[in-house]
Amino acid sequence: MPAKLNSPSRYHGIYNAPHRAFLRSVGLTDEEINKPLVAIATAWSEAGPCNFHTLALARVAKEGAKEAGLSPLAFPTMVVNDNIGMGSEGMRYSLVSRDLIADMVEAQFNAHAFDGLVGIGGCDKTTPGILMAMARLNVPSIYVYGGSAEPGYFMGRRLTIEDVHEAIGAYLAKKISENDLYEIEKRAHPTLGTCSGLFTANTMASMSEALGIALPGSASPTATSSRRVMYVRETGKALGNLIENGIKARDILTYEAFENAITTLMAMGGSTNVVLHLLAIAYEAGVKLTLDDFNRISKRTPYIASMKPGGDYVMADLDEVGGVPVVLKKLLDAGLLHGDVLTVTGKTMKQNLMEYKYPNVPHNHIVRDVSNPIKPRGGIVILKGSLAPEGAVIKVAATNLVKFEGKAKVYNSEDDAFKGIQNNEVKEGEVVIIRYEGPKGAPGMPEMLRVTAAIMGAGLNNVALVTDGRFSGATRGPMVGHVAPEAMVGGPIAVVEDGDTIVIDVENERLDLKLPEEEIKNRLKRWSPPPPRYKSGLLAKYASLVSQASMGAVTRPA
Ligand code: FES
Repeated sequence: MPAKLNSPSRYHGIYNAPHRAFLRSVGLTDEEINKPLVAIATAWSEAGPCNFHTLALARVAKEGAKEAGLSPLAFPTMVVNDNIGMGSEGMRYSLVSRDLIADMVEAQFNAHAFDGLVGIGGCDKTTPGILMAMARLNVPSIYVYGGSAEPGYFMGRRLTIEDVHEAIGAYLAKKISENDLYEIEKRAHPTLGTCSGLFTANTMASMSEALGIALPGSASPTATSSRRVMYVRETGKALGNLIENGIKARDILTYEAFENAITTLMAMGGSTNVVLHLLAIAYEAGVKLTLDDFNRISKRTPYIASMKPGGDYVMADLDEVGGVPVVLKKLLDAGLLHGDVLTVTGKTMKQNLMEYKYPNVPHNHIVRDVSNPIKPRGGIVILKGSLAPEGAVIKVAATNLVKFEGKAKVYNSEDDAFKGIQNNEVKEGEVVIIRYEGPKGAPGMPEMLRVTAAIMGAGLNNVALVTDGRFSGATRGPMVGHVAPEAMVGGPIAVVEDGDTIVIDVENERLDLKLPEEEIKNRLKRWSPPPPRYKSGLLAKYASLVSQASMGAVTRPA
């Protein structure tokens, strides 16, 4: 059955003449005004390479939509570039931007009475923000990614932006020269497009395929590939079929689709940020997804994809061997995916994967068989315990850590921790605690890549980090984030003191502050929250509305 159209109530009939007059002003004819009006929501910004090119892609998506008999109009959404915002107040706006993007798409879509939605994203928060809007609006919707950058090279070594961050630590530790650092900076991100490793942006693009809300194979072509353009055009076209058959976002974004996405996340060893984003998209879709779902699926899913930062390859490499469908097909054949879920092709996941044209090239060096995994369990584990009663997240794909016990070195901000590491305050065997960087405390849960890269770059191989903030998808090493409840709302992380013993036990999925329960309670009784960092403006508003990381850090009506 065709989807119920919104646009006739706004653009047809005598009383809508003024609205039609404005559509004529932007070039629509009578015939076009009578077709379904569809939005091409495009996260665009020149302030970084990740979404620099998306306006050009929007024009291609419009051509595809027109071929399908639709009337497309593009509108922009914002972008906070994660790499540029990092390590400064800018990073507080990153996660905030995810929810703002969802709100911006909702507002523009509803205010203009569109009938269907193509979303084009790139940088980390743009994909989840757009998918949240699709889930919230529950209209015919299809997502297409802007594509990642090509990898860089320096002295025969393949580079990603992660290497620039780590090169700073290596330079400070006098392991490389200033000129080497400069050359790495110049070569690490040589083209437009998102970060090339399987960091947050590429993981979320992979999730869009695993959820069935993007065309099969559309996540992996680089931003510079002609196949990227082809996928964008096909995406515009495919929206016509969704409208014709009345297929809406929530028909696709089901609990089973989220199980497929989590399975794919675990198998690929993707970014920890995606835990937050899947919880948030599920919240908008009205699907009850919890952190326990992640551990349940992590236990049964082998880690099979050797992708940076945990492995050796970048998205462009995965694309050469067939892209995300290669991973999905292996999981499907092993009985780990729901094959009968509906996707934006109008077909099931299984049908898509059977019909997909896989290149006839070896791929086992990048994506192993499920029977011969890199690790027997998934790349992300949820920890709970006296330090994180509601949960915390560790990426085991990027570390060999099984258990870590060490003395706490406590910092009340990311900035203080970065300075502390530069001043050699942190010693081998310690656990760096960074708190008041959670959803409400920071606010906006900034990423700790500057600190983690400084730890790695300084050659501190036996140092762990625990925070109520987030990590970059590029982070590797024994790093635990998303500790909930966060310090700002009186989580136990607020009362850790220098020298306390912290235990990270991945095997038993625990994160503990090794103190008698009574002592933790007494310390919490004496604790009071610090004054909020922001008293007005967006960050203050956000802090008043945001939920804990264990709930996806979504902003909700008060
Ligand atoms: Fe945009 Fe990495 S900073 S994808």
